[in-house]
Amino acid sequence: MKIIHITDTHLMPAGETLYGLDPSARLKRVLDDVVQSQADADLVVLTGDLTQDGNPLAYAQLGKLLADLPMPVRLLLGNHDARENFRAAFPAHPVDSHGYIQSMMPVPGSDDCLLFLDSNSAAEIGGRFCPDRAQWLRETLATRPEAALTVFIHHPPVAHGMAHFNNIGMHDSRTLMEILSAHPGGVRHIFFGHIHIPLTGTTRDGIGFTAGRGCTHQFRQDFQNPAPDWIAGVPNYAVITITPEQLSCHGVDTLDAQMIAAATFCAGP
Ligand SMILES: [Fe+2]
Repeated sequence: MKIIHITDTHLMPAGETLYGLDPSARLKRVLDDVVQSQADADLVVLTGDLTQDGNPLAYAQLGKLLADLPMPVRLLLGNHDARENFRAAFPAHPVDSHGYIQSMMPVPGSDDCLLFLDSNSAAEIGGRFCPDRAQWLRETLATRPEAALTVFIHHPPVAHGMAHFNNIGMHDSRTLMEILSAHPGGVRHIFFGHIHIPLTGTTRDGIGFTAGRGCTHQFRQDFQNPAPDWIAGVPNYAVITITPEQLSCHGVDTLDAQMIAAATFCAGP
């Protein structure tokens, strides 16, 4: 299975800018590249901060930008989103029994499942995985104990090493990680957004994790600075490939890259 991971699009109503950037133009650049270069992808996942402030007009703009994609899309909420406005704009999007934007998707032809989790907390910047959400997750995982999980969530449920996020990470990540770590089928990987910089790692339990970089704006990689600069970076996405043997993730920059030399195929050894 091939999945496109995009995060932190921070869309504004059409025509409005954010920090001098046009979030819609940057997402369009990414989506155009996906259609042109990754047309065989099975799924596109956006891991939250879909919009800058949950404005219904921004969700309308998101729907318009995604409308022509040839592959299905799963959307997650971030702290900048507004659940009710999202649900009004995307009424057919899967939700759990409590109305949280959570679902599980089997990977065809395998024992794998994709998990899409909702860490949005209306009154907080940091993430929450409340008892209702945890109950849904326990009940859902109990239906597929053998499934190997690939998890998508906005807030990082792991240590991120970014001083800016010390008080606004995921406040109750222990609950989530205990549930995931106890799952018999195991967790292949966790993908998230929120921190706007690239990050990869592995927990002590051997669970791998990767952060997307932010489609619209990124943080300067000044990890210990509690107030690092926002930088434009390059509109980007990741290509996740899941096979029985391996899960891999390629980062893609939508650069107008200048060719500096022709490469030749290396026949080996
Ligand atoms: Fe964000």
